[in-house]
Amino acid sequence: MENVYNTTEDFRELVLAQQSEAPPAIWSGNLLDYMKLVEKSPEIASLSPARIYNMIMKAGTEPVEDSIKTKGYEDLVWYKFFDNKIFGNRTAEGIHDIMRFLKASSKRTETGKRILVLVGPVSSAKSTISTLIKRGLEKDGTPKYCIAGCPLHEEPLHAIPLENREMWGEKLGVKIEGELCPVCQLNIDQNFTDNEGKVKWHEIPVELVKISEQRRQCIGTFTPSDPKSQDISELIGSVNMGKIAMYGESDPRAYTFDGELQVANGGVIEYIEILKADIKFHYVLITAAQEQTVKAPRFPQMYIDTLILSHTNQTEFEKFRGNKENEALHDRMYVVKIPWNDRVKDEVKIYEKLIAESEFTDVHISPQALEVAAQFAVLTRYHESEKINLIKKMKLYNGEYLEEFAKGKDFDIHKLREEGKAHEECMEGISPRFVTNAMNIILGAKDKVETGTDKYTGCITALDMIRSIRNTFDHHIGHDEKQRQRYEELLTSDKDSILAEYREFAKREVSTAFVHAYDDQADELFARYMLNIKADCKNETILDSLTGEYKEPDEDIMRALEEQIGIPQDAKKDFRKGIFVYQADALSQGTEFSWKTYKPLKDAIQKKLMADLKNVVTLSIADTTITNPKATKRREKALQTLLDKGYCENCAKHLLSFVGEILRREN
Ligand SMILES: Nc1ncnc2c1ncn2[C@@H]1O[C@H](COP(=O)(O)OP(=O)(O)OP(=O)(O)O)[C@@H](O)[C@H]1O
Ligand SMILES: [Mg+2]
Ligand SMILES: [Zn+2]
Ligand SMILES: [Zn+2]
Repeated sequence: MENVYNTTEDFRELVLAQQSEAPPAIWSGNLLDYMKLVEKSPEIASLSPARIYNMIMKAGTEPVEDSIKTKGYEDLVWYKFFDNKIFGNRTAEGIHDIMRFLKASSKRTETGKRILVLVGPVSSAKSTISTLIKRGLEKDGTPKYCIAGCPLHEEPLHAIPLENREMWGEKLGVKIEGELCPVCQLNIDQNFTDNEGKVKWHEIPVELVKISEQRRQCIGTFTPSDPKSQDISELIGSVNMGKIAMYGESDPRAYTFDGELQVANGGVIEYIEILKADIKFHYVLITAAQEQTVKAPRFPQMYIDTLILSHTNQTEFEKFRGNKENEALHDRMYVVKIPWNDRVKDEVKIYEKLIAESEFTDVHISPQALEVAAQFAVLTRYHESEKINLIKKMKLYNGEYLEEFAKGKDFDIHKLREEGKAHEECMEGISPRFVTNAMNIILGAKDKVETGTDKYTGCITALDMIRSIRNTFDHHIGHDEKQRQRYEELLTSDKDSILAEYREFAKREVSTAFVHAYDDQADELFARYMLNIKADCKNETILDSLTGEYKEPDEDIMRALEEQIGIPQDAKKDFRKGIFVYQADALSQGTEFSWKTYKPLKDAIQKKLMADLKNVVTLSIADTTITNPKATKRREKALQTLLDKGYCENCAKHLLSFVGEILRREN
């Protein structure tokens, strides 16, 4: 407690330092001064879609893997603006579509004069993308100016009279679009027009705008509520009855410009759940998108420049599209699909992000737990192709090497993805939110685990995830019985399921740990094998150190390894010679030669060891009271390998007993 005052002083310095780094928030000048600024940096006067487009481009782009490019997206890139916030190839396509729209909209082409609608299944990042754009605008380094006191914080160049615009537009390198708002018009008429009628528009004061959703400047949000009671004034503002008496009808002073569209002028309006709103709102927005105007009753049109960014979920959209009455509206919407992702690695990144943002931080998440959940989630989203089974498709999509693929069968990954897209792949299935719910269940059960009354492990392991996902089906409405059955099969059936895949993974994981613990035996196997094949190749005999006698090379010893990797009898001689060729190469290049550096031998030795060790592993896993010091040491070494890989003692032990159980059953 004694250092309170010092601390306060330090804080003060920190604050001052921060403030001195922040860009100036105040600028004062008139339109003439502003025009000089525009001449230097025309982007400060960009239309809103261009401002947003530039903001995203400024962060840069990155090339993407060729395997995720599909027809129509040959020019796909990743926009770094969304780094660490958005993941996944399919979302990347959605963002690319948004960028195409912004480009068209910046140029005011017909395509761009529409409402942008993000359509996707629940929890596919539609809201997240919208929010990132809004937050981005608030932080964007391109300053925005407006006519001082304008309730629509409008672009100052609007004050340039129509007849002079062409010349100024050319000089400043910008397109001047839009009529002055009624308030600023009145201001000019009353305060910047002299007795002879000369308009001194260039003297009108200009100020910096702080783009801020909270201050309701340039960022608006419209959320539909009860369609009967929700009023259009929420979008376009309203007449103030009290002031009509004072100023008369259609006087701007009797109007309150607080509609979301007016708020959003110069930036973006997020239109949440667009299709839940009454159709009258759609028409206002369409005019705004099409003509850049809004019209209030008994009031001149007002120019509005804003990106209309709306979103809706897939189900609502299907309903809307099915309704003939809405046909006129369809054309006025630019639909961008935001599906879920199809790659395990991206899905895992989403979960990692959600975990980092949540209260999961005090629970240990074991290796492969998120992968297993992600595998399941993406599997449920796939179209069942006749060309390939789902598990293989999952690996292929994820960029994992598959033999069939390498051999160039009659499909390739691009065609496979295109086929999937044609069947609306990733628009139906399990959402990231479903998976986080499953994690929450484990978390909720954690306390029970500690008192030993529940079947979860206390960490979040892959098996916990599988169990919890299965339990979550019970709490989830919206999946019918047939779907549920399919999901169960994908999750836990004996073959081609997530659980089956995980069994193999777990076995490999434990094998590698044990093989590592038995390194010395692997070395022995290798030495013995080399000794024998050398004698075999040279037609020599081997001195037996025990008996002191010479004997023929031992075929059994050699074949025991070779059979592990399927070397047939008639190819064994070539295989053996091949090893010496490899060894000679290694020697001449000065690189190491051991069983670890020659892949076929490594595989063979590991497999042989594992086969020999099966009983040992099962035993030492099952019996932790083994007193043989050598066995205990090896068990500890295996455990350490698992700890190094990110397991904790608790989940490592669970893994060992799971694998012990599998091996026992296989024996
Ligand atoms: N592709 C993705 N990349 C990163 N995070 C994602 C992705 N998809 C979903 N999420 C995360 O999942 C959560 C839900 O996403 P969000 O609320 O944006 O979805 P939505 O599409 O608006 O869903 P809804 O239709 O239910 O409103 C968010 O925390 C979001 O960050
Ligand atoms: Mg949403
Ligand atoms: Zn104005
Ligand atoms: Zn653990």
